[in-house]
Amino acid sequence: MDAESCLRNRMSIRGFKPEPVDRAVLEEVFELARWSPSYKNSQPWEVLVLSGEKKQALSREMIRLFEEGAPNSPDLAAPQGWPPTEQDNINQLYQSRREATGVDLLDPKLIKKAKKANFSFYGAPHAVYLFQEGSLSQWSLFDLGLFAQTLMLAAHAKGLGTVPQAFATDYAGEIKKFLGIPATKRLVLGLSLGYPDPEASLNKLRTDRMAVEKFVRWLE
Ligand SMILES: Cc1cc2nc3c(=O)[nH]c(=O)nc-3n(C[C@H](O)[C@H](O)[C@H](O)COP(=O)(O)O)c2cc1C
Repeated sequence: MDAESCLRNRMSIRGFKPEPVDRAVLEEVFELARWSPSYKNSQPWEVLVLSGEKKQALSREMIRLFEEGAPNSPDLAAPQGWPPTEQDNINQLYQSRREATGVDLLDPKLIKKAKKANFSFYGAPHAVYLFQEGSLSQWSLFDLGLFAQTLMLAAHAKGLGTVPQAFATDYAGEIKKFLGIPATKRLVLGLSLGYPDPEASLNKLRTDRMAVEKFVRWLE
C-alpha cells in the first residue's frame, strides 16, 4: 500500500472479526511503529498487548466499574469544553452521525451503550495500551501521540483496523493495577486492534475534515 492511500483510507474501526491476528503480523506492526520520531530520540513509549482471557477479564472489570458508578480517573483529564472552531467540528461529527444513522450521540442511553462498547474493545481480538513514565514532559506525550498514529497507519497497511480510545483509560488506576503497570506510569491511550468486519454498521461511516484553507495560512 502506498503512503497516500494509507493516509487517506485509515479510519477508526469499531467492528472486528473475532479471529486473532497472528503474533508475527502484530510484531511486524510494532516493528514499523518503532520508527516513529521522538524528542531527542527518547522513544518514550511502552506498550501492552492484551488478547484472549486477559483482554476479556479487563473488559469485564471496566464494565463492572462503570455499572457500579465508579468515578472516572483517567491519567489525562477529559476536556471540559472546547474553543469555537473545535466545538464546531465536534458538532458536525454529531450531526453527520445523526443524519447517516439516526443515532444521536448525545442521547444518555446511547452514551451508556457506547461506553460499554468501548470497554468491550468493540469486539476486537486484541487491545493495546500505550503508556509512559508519568514524570516525562508534555513533549513525551506528544511523541506518544506520534507513535500512536504510526502504529495505526502500520496496522492499516497490514490490513488491520484500529480505533484509538480515550474511554479505554477511564479507570486508569484500576487498569494499571490489573495489568501490573506501576502507578507512577501514565496510561495514555487504549486501542482496539483486529481485522475489520466490513459488515459492521459502525464501520460504514467516514468522518470528514476541515478544508485546508480553514487551517493553513500562507505568509511570504
Ligand atoms: C486521542 C483520541 C481519543 C479517542 N477516543 C475515542 C474513544 O474513546 N472512543 C471511540 O470510539 N473513538 C475515539 N477516538 C476516535 C475519534 O472519534 C476519531 O479518530 C475521529 O472521529 C476521526 O475519525 P477517524 O479516526 O475515522 O478518521 C479517539 C481519537 C483520538 C485521536
